[in-house]
Amino acid sequence: MMMMRAQVFYMVVFVLIWIGFTYLLFVQRPGALNARSSHHGTRLEPQLKVRLVEFETRLRQQIRDNAQLLREVQALHGGVEPAVVKFVDGANEYEAGGLGGAGLDLQAVPGGGTGGGPAESVRGSVGPIMPLLMFACNRVTVAQAVDLILAIRGDRVQKFPLIVSQDCGHKATRDVLLGYGDQIIFLEQPHQSPIAVPAKEKKFQGYFNIARHYGWALNHTFNELKYEQVIVVEDDLEIAPDFFEYFEATLPILKSDPSLYCVSAWNDNGKQGLIDQVQKSLLYRSDFFGGLGWMLTRELWRELSPKWPASYWDDWIRDPRQRRERACIRPEISRTKTFGKVGVSNGMFYDKHLKFIKLNDQFYDFTKADLSYLLKAQYDPAFEAKLNALPVVSVEELRSGEASGKHKARHGAVRLVYHTKLVFKKYAKVLGIMDDFKAGVPRMAYKGVVSTLFNGLRVYVSPAFSWKGYDPTW
Ligand SMILES: *[C@@H]1O[C@H](CO)[C@@H](O)[C@H](O)[C@H]1NC(C)=O
Repeated sequence: MMMMRAQVFYMVVFVLIWIGFTYLLFVQRPGALNARSSHHGTRLEPQLKVRLVEFETRLRQQIRDNAQLLREVQALHGGVEPAVVKFVDGANEYEAGGLGGAGLDLQAVPGGGTGGGPAESVRGSVGPIMPLLMFACNRVTVAQAVDLILAIRGDRVQKFPLIVSQDCGHKATRDVLLGYGDQIIFLEQPHQSPIAVPAKEKKFQGYFNIARHYGWALNHTFNELKYEQVIVVEDDLEIAPDFFEYFEATLPILKSDPSLYCVSAWNDNGKQGLIDQVQKSLLYRSDFFGGLGWMLTRELWRELSPKWPASYWDDWIRDPRQRRERACIRPEISRTKTFGKVGVSNGMFYDKHLKFIKLNDQFYDFTKADLSYLLKAQYDPAFEAKLNALPVVSVEELRSGEASGKHKARHGAVRLVYHTKLVFKKYAKVLGIMDDFKAGVPRMAYKGVVSTLFNGLRVYVSPAFSWKGYDPTW
């Protein structure tokens, strides 16, 4: 019965879409266009282009509206995947490329349904829906983070819905969030009873609340709202202009490579001087979970959800039992930055470290780039070959500039080899990178190797050839 009603709805929606297109096409048909333009003789071509772009813009709007309608209908009927919007397909392709930067990715055909029910003849107009899930509590400054996301998101409302989940029940923060109306999806964490915390961890109560909030909101986003992937952000996060393109372009990589478990927008060593700011497209694989603007899929959530911890969820995710030798993608230049918080995490850490991280400020369209080099099968052999070809230098040679003079022109990079935890820490201090380990993994490391810049020279801080894997006791 339910199915029948859903089918009827799809039919209605489909017919509406069809009528919409037919109407648009007849009103804006090329004939009418030519007749008008021909008066302008030589200006016909630019005129035509402008008209076509206008037409496409309208078509796109139409598709968005229809897709929204579809989503609502699917949601009403408990559709399996309300997040996936599909669109009309058929014999004639309506291609956007070559229309002077209109850059559309849609293929639409008026009245061309070939086989299949309406639901099958509808195909993705905006691709996968990628909601952002923001965690808020009692800071009204959340508005700063929300405003920036809304501004950078622009009209891509449907592709990047912003969910803000509030814990703590703080009224002023709640009012700020309610003020956004339907620009955001507002959630409230319903379990407000105090969590029983072991006596010796009383001062870490906040971490227990955070873990409960994350668990609840992620569950809600995947299980109730039925999204297929989520980008987790915090209420004090600033995002880069290409934040959305970064996640959009890395999603297919994350989904197709089981040796990856997240994409993070953060580089813990991303300070001025330690990164190559020219290489704004540069991405890496990392065994370190960097968080701070990160994406996970439904598959990972299905795995983590039943055993979600009572506290310290981020260190828990880094534990070998959760990580299971999987990596994250991370950028050379951070696509997020925290604007500083007063709260559970250490304010000192912000002042001494986080505030120096450079936020990328030059837009790079990752969606136009080929990122297949990040797949393990391609990345690992290239990574190993490259490292093995590099000269090994001492920290003294680096300090004195001798390493740069000898190797920069020829190799462009060098290796600095560590054998022990203490030696790594010593090198880290010299280079200015983070010197701590989580579950035995240095921040941002891949196969034990941390990539950084030292006086303009690329340095790979690498374990010895005999390296057998991370030592969780480090
Ligand atoms: C999410 O919901 C499922 C099903 O209700 C439950 O088994 C699981 O424990 C929940 N996970 C979290 C972290 O709340």
